[in-house]
Amino acid sequence: MTDLLEQLRAAVGDAHVLTDPEDVAAYVVDWTGVHTGRALAVVRPGSTDEVAAVVRACRGARAPIVPQGGNTGLVGGGVPDGSGSQVVLSLGRMRTVRAVDPVAGTVTVDAGVVLADVQAAAEAAGRLFPMSLGSEGSCTIGGNLATNAGGTAVLRYGMTRELVLGLEVVLPDGRVWDGLRGLRKDNTGYDLTQLFVGSEGTLGVITGAVLRLFPATPRHATAWVAVPDVAAAVALLAVAQERAGAHLTTFEIANRQALDLVLAHLPGAVDPLDEPSDWYVLVELAATEADHGLDDTLEAVLGEAVETGLATDAAIAGSRAQRSALWSLREGISEVQKVEGATLKHDVTLPIADLAAWTDAMGPRLQQILPGVRPVTYGHVGDGNLHYNLNAPVGRDDDLRAAAAQLSTAIYDAVAAADGSISAEHGLGRTKAAAAASYKSDVEVDLMWAVKRALDPEGLMNPGVLVPD
Ligand code: FAD
Ligand code: MLT
Ligand code: ZN
Repeated sequence: MTDLLEQLRAAVGDAHVLTDPEDVAAYVVDWTGVHTGRALAVVRPGSTDEVAAVVRACRGARAPIVPQGGNTGLVGGGVPDGSGSQVVLSLGRMRTVRAVDPVAGTVTVDAGVVLADVQAAAEAAGRLFPMSLGSEGSCTIGGNLATNAGGTAVLRYGMTRELVLGLEVVLPDGRVWDGLRGLRKDNTGYDLTQLFVGSEGTLGVITGAVLRLFPATPRHATAWVAVPDVAAAVALLAVAQERAGAHLTTFEIANRQALDLVLAHLPGAVDPLDEPSDWYVLVELAATEADHGLDDTLEAVLGEAVETGLATDAAIAGSRAQRSALWSLREGISEVQKVEGATLKHDVTLPIADLAAWTDAMGPRLQQILPGVRPVTYGHVGDGNLHYNLNAPVGRDDDLRAAAAQLSTAIYDAVAAADGSISAEHGLGRTKAAAAASYKSDVEVDLMWAVKRALDPEGLMNPGVLVPD
C-alpha cells in the first residue's frame, strides 16, 4: 500500500493525498451522519488527467475507488465502507466552469462545480440552469449526474438526465472517454452519456459535463396553500396544470408534522397562515421577463381551489423576501428532521392517482409497528415523489432504530404493490441496493450486472453501491 500512496502522491501532489485521520474525517461521514466508513486515503485530483492517473494507480494496486462530490447524498453511496481499503476520490478541486454558450444553450463544467455555481454562471449569461435542490450550495454537478438528482423543478424541466447533453468520464481502466458534445441530436449508437447518469460512481468517474440552459425566468408567483388532504393536493395539481400550463414549475407537498418541526427548529420560521391544516402545498409559477399575468393566473388557480374545497387558505408571496420565507418552510425540512432526532428516510414514487389512497393506508399500518412514530411526509408531489420520512415517537430514538427494518419493509412492500419505486431521486447507494434488487425481476438484475461487468470487470468502482455484492 505504501507503493500506492507514493503513486497517488506522484499523480496529484503530496498536499492532495490525505491520510491523517483529522484530514480524512469529513470525507468518511455523509450529511446524515448515519453513513460512516474508513478510507485508505482521500485523493483530490485537480484535472481529468490526474483523475485518470489516480484510477490507473488504484487499478494496479486493486484498491477500490469511491468517487465523492459534495457528500450530500442520502443513501451512503459517496462514503467508503468500513474496511479501510477504499480510496475516496474527491472532485472538490475540479471547480472550473469551462464555457457558457447562451445561444446554443449550453454550459460546460468540471464535475466538481457546485450546483449553485452552475446556476450563477447561467444567470450571469442571462440564462437559467433549472435544477434546484435544498443542497444546491454544496452538491456538485458530478454528484447530481451520478445520482440523476431531481429536486423542485422536475415538473417543468425534468431530472438531471434531461438536462445533460454530453459527458467526460474516466473509465475504470484509466482511459478517458471524451463525450463532451453539446449536440441536441446524435443518433450514432448506444446512448453512452445516459448510461453514466444515475450510475452512482459504479461505472467510472465523471469529470466534465455539457448541460442544457433555458431562457431565464425572473418572474415568479408563489403561494403556500393549505389543503385538507393528499387527494385535494392531487386535484389541485390538475387545476394548476390546466390553468398555468408550462408556467407551473414547482408543486411540493408537506404535512403538518413537517411544518411543526420547521417552526420548532428553523430560526425565524413563521407559519404564514392563521389556522393549522393537515397538509400544505408550495406552488410556484415562473416566466420570462416578457410574460405578464402570472399573479392573475395564480390567483385564478387558488380562487377555484377555495371555491371547490380543494384549498382552505393560501398565503401569496408579495415580495422576494416573502417568497424566500415560503421556500424556507419547504427547503428547511431535511435539516430540522435531523435536529429533531433519529430519522428514517424513504424516497418513494407512486403513480399520482394512487398517492392519496397509499398515504391514507400507510399511516395506520406504521402505527401498528411502532405506535407514536411520526411520518414527516413531504416532497415533489407533482412528480408522484414523496419523502415518506419517519421521526421517532417523541424521545424514543432507539425504538425507531430497532423497528427500522420492519418499518422500511412495510413501506417498500406497499410501494411495490402499487407499482411504485423505492428510490425516486436519491439513488440506491449502499443502503438500498439489496432492497431494490429484491423488488426487481431476475432479468432486470441480470442486465444491471451485465452493464457493471462490461465496464468494470474487476469491480473496483464503488463496490457494494447500486448493485449489491
Ligand atoms: P455525493 O454525495 O458526493 O455522491 C453521491 C453519489 O454520486 C455517490 O455514489 C458518489 O460515489 C457518486 N459521485 C459523486 N461524484 C461523482 C463523479 N464525479 N463521478 C462519478 N460518481 C460520482 N436529491 C435530490 O435528488 N433531490 C432533492 O431535492 C434533494 N434535496 C436534498 C436536500 C438536502 C438538504 C440534502 C442534504 C440532500 C438532498 N438531495 C436531494 C440529495 C443529494 O444532494 C443529491 O443526491 C446530490 O445529487 C448529491 O450530490 P453530491 O455532489 O453531494 O454527491
Ligand atoms: C428534499 O427534497 O428535501 C430531499 O430530497 C429529501 C430528504 O432530505 O429526505
Ligand atoms: Zn427531494
